[in-house]
Amino acid sequence: MRSQETYADQGWFVAPQRLGPDALAKVRASIRAISGSARPEVVYEEGTRTVRALHGCHRYDDVCAELVRHPVLLDLAEGLIGGPVYLYQFKVNIKAPRQGREWPWHQDYAFWAHEDGMPAPDAVNIALHLDDVHESNGPLTVLSGSHTLGLVAANEAAARSGRDWQDHVSARLTYIIPEEEIHELAGRFPARRLLGPAGTVAAFHPSIVHSSTNNTSDDRRAVLLLTYNSVSNAPTRLTRPAFLVDPDTTPVRRLANALA
Ligand code: SIN
Ligand code: MN
Repeated sequence: MRSQETYADQGWFVAPQRLGPDALAKVRASIRAISGSARPEVVYEEGTRTVRALHGCHRYDDVCAELVRHPVLLDLAEGLIGGPVYLYQFKVNIKAPRQGREWPWHQDYAFWAHEDGMPAPDAVNIALHLDDVHESNGPLTVLSGSHTLGLVAANEAAARSGRDWQDHVSARLTYIIPEEEIHELAGRFPARRLLGPAGTVAAFHPSIVHSSTNNTSDDRRAVLLLTYNSVSNAPTRLTRPAFLVDPDTTPVRRLANALA
């Protein structure tokens, strides 16, 4: 099945192409440097100094800015969206060995629709593994095909009272889907783990139901997530920090010499 058809059908797929070792090494070095810096874009596991995530790195780091334009990632996004895209969100979710915490069951589009007024789920998440991702270091798990449901009603019922952006990036998410609902959904949509060595590239839909568990292993699990949005689908409200929702909707231009 072609990638586009697989994506339309399942709402996710692991791409046949990977990011090469040289580019990967540069990105990992940038991520290491950013992780050690004190800035609001660096988020820690609650009550600790363990880095959980980095945000908006393309806005202040040249390697990350180039990565957004890398053909392996950009061509995939443009192919799935079917036209020009801009970068809506850049994040790196780092699960430290034994300390990295879960991401409860949710749909990304719940945040983007409710918080930012994104008109439609005409965006795509491109995931890049910065580490080997295996069964025990907290892989992303999707309910395959669940993107066809649109937003599940539980999102509304589960919305919590704290509505500032910190509750969109911690292990206590604002829009979570309760376990009972997941149990029912999992009977219809099989759970699939996105596994693969460092350099693996995968795509998943804004409406797919997904989660990931705590990192119970001795191996770090860093996954870089680029959300490309159709240029005709910009959000109608810009209330969250620019490092979470990039206000610059200029179409991304393909890099000629990719992170050489
Ligand atoms: C994860 O990094 O495991 C979760 C990412 C996401 O929910 O988008
Ligand atoms: Mn998510």
